[in-house]
Amino acid sequence: MTEELKGQLAVVTGAARGIGAAIGKQLASMGATVILAARDKARLDQVRQEIEAAGGTAHIAQLDLLDESSIASLAKTIQTRHGSRCDILVNNAAIGLIGKPLIEMSPADWDTLMNTNLRGPYLMVRALAPLMIAAKSGHIVNISSLAGRNPLPNGAAYSASKWGLNGLTYSIAEELRPHNIRVSVIAPGSVNTSFSHSDKNADKKIQPSDVARIVAMLVTQAPQSFVSEVLLRPTQKP
Ligand SMILES: NC(=O)c1ccc[n+]([C@@H]2O[C@H](COP(=O)([O-])OP(=O)(O)OC[C@H]3O[C@@H](n4cnc5c(N)ncnc54)[C@H](OP(=O)(O)O)[C@@H]3O)[C@@H](O)[C@H]2O)c1
Repeated sequence: MTEELKGQLAVVTGAARGIGAAIGKQLASMGATVILAARDKARLDQVRQEIEAAGGTAHIAQLDLLDESSIASLAKTIQTRHGSRCDILVNNAAIGLIGKPLIEMSPADWDTLMNTNLRGPYLMVRALAPLMIAAKSGHIVNISSLAGRNPLPNGAAYSASKWGLNGLTYSIAEELRPHNIRVSVIAPGSVNTSFSHSDKNADKKIQPSDVARIVAMLVTQAPQSFVSEVLLRPTQKP
């Protein structure tokens, strides 16, 4: 445990497992109070208990990015129970629906994916950035993918959502800079989580803790500058 982020409140979406859980643990280990947000309450509770066992502080928020009212209710909880303070927002949650050519994807699946991966971060920023603007400080970190820079056959919608998330990130970074809010995007290659089932070598993949360490670096950057984008690649191709 360190105290670098003591007194700060961090919200991490998709913190029930994988990269989001690792980010939640990392930020809590640096002294932040972390709100772990996702749909699966049992898994969120497990992550919270692991953080508390390590001496950190975490709360859970059952949140479905497809349900605007659950985002509004998180914002309300932050206002009433956490002093209207949100220092760090990590938009990490996403779904892949990878594996089929685009023409075999149903419009309903397209909508679910875009609403989770792109509309979700928009709604989170819309709900929480005003608190950062009022405080004249804050960090927003969006978790994109190398699939947001490269073509991904059989994952066109996922790839498009991450290209979109990059554009959203670069644009709001400019909108929010005058308010002293720093917005960054991390684009990892294959990470060792249950996100996609592939025959790639799990040991050679990027580990969730590697992504979490980048988040830690971004949110502890000296105040006069910010890292706008990180491309994270495995050393050995998995
Ligand atoms: N794994 C990779 O190879 C890889 C590579 C590059 C980028 N990424 C990106 O990294 C991020 C995390 O990926 P991961 O590998 O950790 O995935 P993961 O293990 O599948 O975890 C995804 C998280 O998102 C949450 N989530 C999904 N739909 C949601 C919704 N509608 N509302 C709220 N939460 C929702 C899930 O929790 P619930 O189901 O409980 O809601 C879960 O906690 C994603 O943005 C992904 O695109 C992953």
